[in-house]
This record gives sequence, C-alpha cells and structure tokens, in this order.
Amino acid sequence: MPPRRVIIDTDTAGDDALAILMAVLSDRLDVDGVTVVAGNVEFDYQVENAKYALRLAGADDVPVHEGARRPLLKDFEHADYVHGEGGLGGELFPDTGIPSADEHAVDYVLRTVREDPGEVSLVCIGPLTNVAMALQREPDLDDYVDEVWVMGGAVNAPGNVTPAAEFNFWVDPDAAKLVLRELDVTLVDWGLTLDASVLGAEAFDRFAAFDTAYADFFRTIAEPVREFTREEQGVDGATQPDSLTVALAMAPELRGAAGTYYADVDEREGLTRGHSVVDTADVADAPARTRVIESADADLFEELFAGMLEEGDPERPL
Ligand code: BDR
Ligand code: CA
Repeated sequence: MPPRRVIIDTDTAGDDALAILMAVLSDRLDVDGVTVVAGNVEFDYQVENAKYALRLAGADDVPVHEGARRPLLKDFEHADYVHGEGGLGGELFPDTGIPSADEHAVDYVLRTVREDPGEVSLVCIGPLTNVAMALQREPDLDDYVDEVWVMGGAVNAPGNVTPAAEFNFWVDPDAAKLVLRELDVTLVDWGLTLDASVLGAEAFDRFAAFDTAYADFFRTIAEPVREFTREEQGVDGATQPDSLTVALAMAPELRGAAGTYYADVDEREGLTRGHSVVDTADVADAPARTRVIESADADLFEELFAGMLEEGDPERPL
C-alpha cells in the first residue's frame, strides 16, 4: 500500500506535537503539509511548536502554513492552563528559525486537494476554523478530499472544557457545525480519548527507561499534563487525543466499533456552546454522514506510542 497523503491541521500544543511526530515518523502516512489554526495557546507559539516537532523527526522539509488566528465568529480562550504557556509543558519555547510557507493555510489546502482530487486526506486535530474557511471558498470540498479525520466533540457525553463541550468544538462551534454538515467526517471524540488514549503511571514508568530525543520530548510535554489531569480530572495519566486520531487514521488495526450517524453542534453562546449531539436514535430524519469511532484498542495504541518513543517507529507493533 502506498502511504496515505495527509495534511495535518493543528493548534500545536503538546499532544498535537506528539501527533505530528507520529504522523511524520509513520511509513503509512505521507505528510504533505502542516496547517496551523487558533486554539490551544498563543498562535505564534503553536507555529514554532509544529516546526520543532517536525525538526525533531528530521522532517523540517514539510511546510508549515499559517492559518486562521481566531475562530470564525466567537471569542475564545486558550488552554494554556493545561499545556503550559507555550504549549509544550511550560518550560520549552522553541525558536527554530524555520520560515513558514508563504501561502495561507486555506489557500494551500484548496490548491493541494484541487491538484490531486481524492488523493489527500485531512487530519484535523484543532478547532475547525481553517477547514470551515476552505469550505466557504469551495462548497464542493467533499468531492476533492479523501478522508477527513477530526478530533473533536464529546459524543453524547460530558466535555473537557465545559460540561457540554470538548475544547476543539467549543473554540469554534460555527466551524464545527459547518464541517459536520458538509463533509464526510470520521470523528474521534473526547469519550474515546478517555477510553483508549490515557497513558497511565505504568506507561510513564516504562517510557522513563527510553533514552531517545523523542522520549525526552514526551517527558517535557507530558509530565505537566499528567499533573493537571491528576488534579483536575482525578486520573493519573496523560490523555493523547491528537495522537490517537493520527494513529487511527494510519492503523486500521487499532479501530474497534464504528457507526455512522447524523451529528450536529450547538453554535449558540451560553452553557451549551460547542455541544455535539450524535443522533444514535435516528430521530432527526437527517442524513447520516459522520462516522464515529466508538472503540479502539488502548493496549495497541500504547504500543504504537512506545515504538515511536523508543525507536522512532510507531508501526513497530503492527
Ligand atoms: C483537544 O483540545 C486540545 O487541547 C487538544 O490539543 C486536543 O486537540 C482535546 O479536547
Ligand atoms: Ca489539538
């Protein structure tokens, strides 16, 4: 199988950076470019974090395209209380000197998918502002892209940033709503993140023995997140929503149950902003086009992660 060509759309904090690392180290994925969107931390930090992750993997020839610096319509807050000020745990502030690509992220996405229709997939691990802007410019975007993987939403469950909403959908609910309406999305939500991507105390102990730059990077990023998760969510571990999304896109072996449903997002301000509803009961009488990954192999995910950190080979267990 030739590698799947992907564009990674990211608000690069720590878990995004590890996801970028996984994607560029994977032989099954061919990362065409990285696009950056407003989200986790201050925009310019995110851009540097993406470049740093690429350089760490020897992939700094992959272009980084800067995109939307704010959501379509709403005000928002960063999640630096989780990821640290710069997004990489709070101590690491890269200054790579790598220039960003000239082309705006949205122009780049549209040009790339139009040049090779049906050949490029989007892996979206941040708020969906860039993708929504691409849709506004090209309403037939669905005809041009291959797969669209989205980390976002909390499928009929509590969110991580408000009781109703997961962070990516909360930041730009207008964008999330549009993307779910107009594209055939495969969704990796916050609930699956908790089920299948928590690297717990045992994983931390195991990874502590790995003497590589990748494992060092993981420790820098993940120790503060582990502390936050322990204090705020009562779980001793670090969630990896974005790496889980990349891993699922690259490795079908990881995927468990999935169902395709109608899904919608509440874009109104207030308590339900960013809430995602997945119509599992089929009451909406609306087209089912969102494929929800409902379970995944948590042990295998940890093994992919271990392969990445120990040998730079996320496919080692496959
Ligand atoms: C998502 O929000 C961000 O903080 C993470 O990078 C991830 O994409 C989880 O809700
Ligand atoms: Ca993210």
